[in-house]
Amino acid sequence: MSLPIAVLISGGGSNLQALIDRIEQGSLQASIQVVVSNVPRAKGLERAEKHGIACRVVPQAEYSSRQAHDRAVIAILHSFGVQAVCLAGYMRLISPEFVQAFPNRVLNIHPSLLPSFPGLHAQNQAVDYGVRVSGATVHFVDQELDHGPIIIQGSVPLYPEDAEEEAARRILALEHRIYPQAVQWMAEDRLRIAQGRVHVLSSHSEPADTSSVFPCLINPGLELGF
Ligand code: GRF
Repeated sequence: MSLPIAVLISGGGSNLQALIDRIEQGSLQASIQVVVSNVPRAKGLERAEKHGIACRVVPQAEYSSRQAHDRAVIAILHSFGVQAVCLAGYMRLISPEFVQAFPNRVLNIHPSLLPSFPGLHAQNQAVDYGVRVSGATVHFVDQELDHGPIIIQGSVPLYPEDAEEEAARRILALEHRIYPQAVQWMAEDRLRIAQGRVHVLSSHSEPADTSSVFPCLINPGLELGF
C-alpha cells in the first residue's frame, strides 16, 4: 500500500529527486501521482518526466488571484487522487483554502532550523548571522510562511570560512535525507499532532531504542571538562 502524493516545485527539484530515488529504491512507500510547477521550465519537470511521472504547469500569471491559482492546483491534485502534498522548493505561499483541502497532509521542507530564518535565502541568512549550527526542517504547513508543527529537523555545522554555496550544499544534502523519512512516516500513518507538537508513533510495539533518536551536534566541539 503506497501513499499517493503530489510534489509541488518551482525550480531544480533535487528534493523531488530524493523522493523519487527513495521510492525507486523501495524505502519510501509512496507514489508520486503528479508533479506541479508554477514555473514553466523548472528543471524539476525534466526530472519527473525522466521517471515517467505526470507533470502539470500552472503559472500564477494566468490567474486573477492566489485563491484562483490555488483552486486550479487543488483541482489537479484531486483529479490525480492525491492524499498528501509535498512542497519541495515551491516558491508560493499557499492559501488557507489549500491547507484546508488537505488537512494535516501538506508538508514543506525549509533549509534552516525553524523557527530561525524563515523566508527566502535561509542558508544565507544563517551564514550572515554567523550561527555555528544550522540545518533543515520538515514541517506540516499551516497558514503562516515556513510555519507549522515540526516533523523532523537535522543539523549541520556552519564554519566562519563557509562560502554561502558551501553551506547551502551541506544543508541540501541533509534535506535529501530527512524529507523522504518524513514522507515515509506519513505513508505509514505514524504522525500525530497534539497541541502543536508532532509525535512519531513507534513502528514496533516495544519501546524504540532512543540512543540513536537524539543526535546532538555541537559546533565548535566541547572541550574536556564540559
Ligand atoms: C530547498 O532548499 C528547500 O528547502 C527550499 O527550496 C529548496 C529547493 O531545492 N524550500 P530543490 O528544488 O529541491 O533542489
